[in-house]
Formats: sequence, structure tokens, C-alpha cells
Amino acid sequence: MFKKLDILDEKDKRLRKKSEIVSFPLSNTDKKLIEQIITHLTYSQIEKYEKMYDLRPGTGLAFPQLGLLKRIIVIVDEYESGKFNNYVVINPEIISTSKEMIAADAGEGCLSVNRDVEGHVPRFARVTVTGFDMEGNPIRIRAREELSIAFQHEIDHLNGILFYDRINKKKPFFNEYEIRLL
Ligand code: NI
Repeated sequence: MFKKLDILDEKDKRLRKKSEIVSFPLSNTDKKLIEQIITHLTYSQIEKYEKMYDLRPGTGLAFPQLGLLKRIIVIVDEYESGKFNNYVVINPEIISTSKEMIAADAGEGCLSVNRDVEGHVPRFARVTVTGFDMEGNPIRIRAREELSIAFQHEIDHLNGILFYDRINKKKPFFNEYEIRLL
């Protein structure tokens, strides 16, 4: 039976806190929650289920968005139509970044931000992320383009940062040339 997640809204102060390092083994509660997040995010990207359960489409979620201040992120990336890769990273860290910057054309969205926020969010075009899988094994992921943006967005949540904090208020939009000069 599918259970919709209860996701905090941006007004909730917990979203502005720094999350704590997680130790292993993970609790069964956390493991179950991770599975529930994967299902929620996957369903939210499949039209049939999105409509059936009235979900907002989203590719990622961080534990603080559920009111749990733990350094755990989940990303469900549709790399090809109808095909998904799941990334679960415990205690993620960005260990290297490209010089090149990018921004999602249409700006970013967040399951905790229930309104449209206009503006480009400058992000590193490529990042290398290290951390641990659910069993505590060290992992390393190289991400580019949209997946790179997703990792930066979710890791920001662990540090109390929301995507619009990174929009330049004086100059919210960049063209492709300008973004490379950042
Ligand atoms: Ni978000």
C-alpha cells in the first residue's frame, strides 16, 4: 500500500538547520523511510501514479524535509524515459567540482517550496560526491548536468540551504555565456 510522504513546507524552521552525521548500522525505521522516499519520488515521475496519488513531481528528497535532521539524501533520476536510477547517499560530501557552472533553464523546484520561484540557480556542471550506501559501504559518484544539480540541491538541504538562497537577487537570470563567467 502506497503511503504519501508528509513533506515539510519551507516555512518550517527545521529546514534551516544543519543535519547530523549518521552512524551505522542504519535503523530499520530509516531504511524503511528510504524505501518509501524512493517509491514516492519514482511514482511522482510516472504520470499515472502522479495523478492517482496527487503527487508533485520531484527527483530528490533529503531527510530534513521530513523533519529528520540526518545527513541522508535520495535521488531518483529518470535517465531514459520510464527508466530510473536510484541514488541513496548517507553522509554525502562533495569532494570536487568543475570550474564550469550551469543552471537549470527553467530554474529549480523543491518539494518543500510550494510556489514558483523565478531565477537561475548557479551550480557546478560536474561534481564528485562521496559518502556511504545503506549498508555503510563507501561510495563515490560522478555526476554531471541535471544529476549534478540534483546532488548539489539535496546536499544543500543538509546544511539548511534552500535553492532560492543561491539566486542572485539583482541579476536572477543568466544567458549561457554569462553563466560560464561565474
Ligand atoms: Ni529541495
